[in-house]
Amino acid sequence: MRSIAVVGVGYVGLVTGACFADLGNKVVALDIIEERVENLKKGILPIYEPGLSEIVARNVDAGRLSFTTSYEEALAEAEFVFICVGTPQGVDGEADLQYVRSAAESIAQTMDHSLIVINKSTVPVGTGDWVSDIVRETQSHPIPFSVVSCPEFLREGSALVDFMNPDRTVLGSLDQDAASEVAHLHLPLRAPIVITDLRTAEMIKYASNAFLATKISFINEIANICEALGADVKEVAVGMGLDKRIGRFFLDAGVGYGGSCFPKDVSALKHMATVQGKHPQLLQAVVDINGFQRKIVVNKLRELLGDDLSGKTIGLLGLAFKPNTDDMREAPAIDIAEILFEAGAKCKGYDPVSMKHAAQMMPNVVLCNSPYEVAEGCDALVVITEWNEFKNLDMERIYTAMKRPIIIDGRNIYEPEMMTEHGFTYRGIGRGYNGASGVELPSNGRTGVTQTS
Ligand code: UGA
Repeated sequence: MRSIAVVGVGYVGLVTGACFADLGNKVVALDIIEERVENLKKGILPIYEPGLSEIVARNVDAGRLSFTTSYEEALAEAEFVFICVGTPQGVDGEADLQYVRSAAESIAQTMDHSLIVINKSTVPVGTGDWVSDIVRETQSHPIPFSVVSCPEFLREGSALVDFMNPDRTVLGSLDQDAASEVAHLHLPLRAPIVITDLRTAEMIKYASNAFLATKISFINEIANICEALGADVKEVAVGMGLDKRIGRFFLDAGVGYGGSCFPKDVSALKHMATVQGKHPQLLQAVVDINGFQRKIVVNKLRELLGDDLSGKTIGLLGLAFKPNTDDMREAPAIDIAEILFEAGAKCKGYDPVSMKHAAQMMPNVVLCNSPYEVAEGCDALVVITEWNEFKNLDMERIYTAMKRPIIIDGRNIYEPEMMTEHGFTYRGIGRGYNGASGVELPSNGRTGVTQTS
């Protein structure tokens, strides 16, 4: 059993603290927001994540996990302190490091024995060195410490599974002994451990997220070409993904990526590159394509309902940025609703878990209690988040409830033929061949591709 302090009980901090406690360690998790800590003590979590409340309760009951607002209490016995505070997007896409700074200062002011400071927040390359300087300069007298970068790779919605079954653990430090101490902490996870220097570890995090975002924008660009040429992007993704060098993951075309990570991290990496005089053209294209995917949905509505959308009622199915989370940060639903409002349309919406956030973040959207209530009187329905409960809806009921039977499937969760059989006018994303893109097929049912050999 090792003693761990976690600073910041947001998404990453709470999952990290609860999981390390579950692995048998003693964890004290700190947050400066008193209400959040008081709620956690009562078992009320600040976020929705499958399985998290159970694992938190289990470890609190076992005495391995506790919550505090006091740095003295958190650091009293700690050998390791994880910094898991937010790094929101600041001006020009630059990451805002004010919370990292204040965590580092508070740690330095409070520590009375040697510590390994582990940075889990996603921070610009070079931040580990900066944190080192802050701790050294803030300490009232020198106490040994080391800084290790340990980027987080978990996904919202599957955070516990991802934490307990990582593909790899990446550790960066100038102090190899400290890195191997942190490596020991991760040994029960039985994943390959990459030990490198601080800056390289920080870069691995950005490069990983930027690559995944690039994969998504790539398949979205291919989807748009598929539509024009009469090919089906879902099958293209399967065919491509079977090549081990490419892989099937993150090749789902749709309304583009959202969330608290990809948009912010791609912008931050672009900013770092630009500051160094580099021209991150690929990253810029990734961002541009992602923005365009939101507009595509509205273009499809215009194609079917006419250019003037004023007075039309559009139903939005799924408001969270992805399934199994209530997180609405950078959610495609927000952008799409905004474009629709500007065009004079009215929006209704439903999400299985993010209704509370939606009420605050989308005040103009009429929130409903079910997909069927959304469908009532709608001119069109748009699937924005691929929640499981949307996959097997009673389509007859939806059809009867709608004013016009139009479905824009922004996540390709339905089969075009089936939707057509139900009587809907259906449009997916990049489903040219099956999804009625308007491409005229020759009478043999094949597109006019000529094979030369
Ligand atoms: C992402 C990374 O996947 C994690 O590895 C990383 O730790 C995390 O960011 C972070 O930096 O904290 P997350 O944002 O939770 O995780 O969600 P993802 O599952 O990666 O999805 C991100 C967005 O991409 C969602 O809007 C999703 O709908 C979209 N997406 C994903 C697609 O449009 N197509 C795909 O094929 C996959």
